[in-house]
Amino acid sequence: MSIIEKAASRIDKQRSATSAAAGPATSTATIPDSDVVRAIPSASPVTPVAPVAPVMAAAASVHAAHATAAAEAERPAQKSSTRRVELDLARMRDLGMVTAAAGRTSLLEDFRVIKRPLLQRAFAERAPNDKPGNLIMITSSLPGEGKTYCAVNLAMSIAMELDHTVLLIDADVARPSVLRTLGLPAHRGLMDLLVDDKLDMADVMLRTNVDTLSILPAGTSTPRATELLASSTMTSLVNEIANRYPDRIVIFDSPPLLLTSESRVLASHMGQIVMVVEAQTTTQHAVKEALHQLEGYSNVNLIYNKTREIPGIEETYDYHYG
Ligand SMILES: Nc1ncnc2c1ncn2[C@@H]1O[C@H](COP(=O)(O)OP(=O)(O)O)[C@@H](O)[C@H]1O
Ligand SMILES: [Mg+2]
Repeated sequence: MSIIEKAASRIDKQRSATSAAAGPATSTATIPDSDVVRAIPSASPVTPVAPVAPVMAAAASVHAAHATAAAEAERPAQKSSTRRVELDLARMRDLGMVTAAAGRTSLLEDFRVIKRPLLQRAFAERAPNDKPGNLIMITSSLPGEGKTYCAVNLAMSIAMELDHTVLLIDADVARPSVLRTLGLPAHRGLMDLLVDDKLDMADVMLRTNVDTLSILPAGTSTPRATELLASSTMTSLVNEIANRYPDRIVIFDSPPLLLTSESRVLASHMGQIVMVVEAQTTTQHAVKEALHQLEGYSNVNLIYNKTREIPGIEETYDYHYG
């Protein structure tokens, strides 16, 4: 069975298992050896919980201590022009997203499981022709499957780890939504970098109050956006990012694979690719087509997103703890 057939049949099995409520709504499976399928239930916004659970409070303070050190270490490398923005962590938590401010613990668990193999491969030794493993692209077949949701949650989850800094890039230039999802106002970014060679990354990058997390927004919209994304300037920029931040996880929230060709171009620069599949909605045909476009890339992971929440099943997420 080809990788694609295995993936598609795995997705079918997960789909029927979820629909029939026959088992836990979440499972991790190996598609070929290096691939992961992870099911993420559709999150309903969580009711704010106060006080913050003790375990998370401890994690937050460890994170804060680490983040200060990381910020100190980073400061000399960044120009003073880099702006800092405040993420409203309580708002994010209330929207059901991963933050150090606790929230839906099953979601924290889901992203802990998703990030583990990605982090392992990010800095693994590689052959001279391998793409940098720390460049991770989040894509999907079609719009609306949860790329931005997964990119933001993954970035946040990794930024909360000791020893890792994260750069989240909004490369879905036709439908940018990272800043909106985070409740931040529009800002210059990737598009501006691609059209103005006097601009430097540090001029458009945003540091955040999560000191280990920086954001490169999509930037000023232009009708040439998709063309710019597939340009040789973009190729040079991705190479520059890989060389400039070799110790950083760089997450690209990317366009969908089936509508335009940019995602394929982007994929050719990435060390790892994560394809988000929307449960119940994306057809097997679409998944197969999208996976065909990624044929030849070895590090393709699947996330099965927005699975139906099954009442009473949430405790089973603890199964993945550790
Ligand atoms: N697991 C999930 N639980 C709840 N809402 C989700 C989940 N995944 C995505 N969404 C929501 O679905 C919508 C589309 O997701 P989004 O990440 O914007 O898709 P894309 O970036 O692929 O176009 C958004 O409103 C997002 O908040
Ligand atoms: Mg998006």
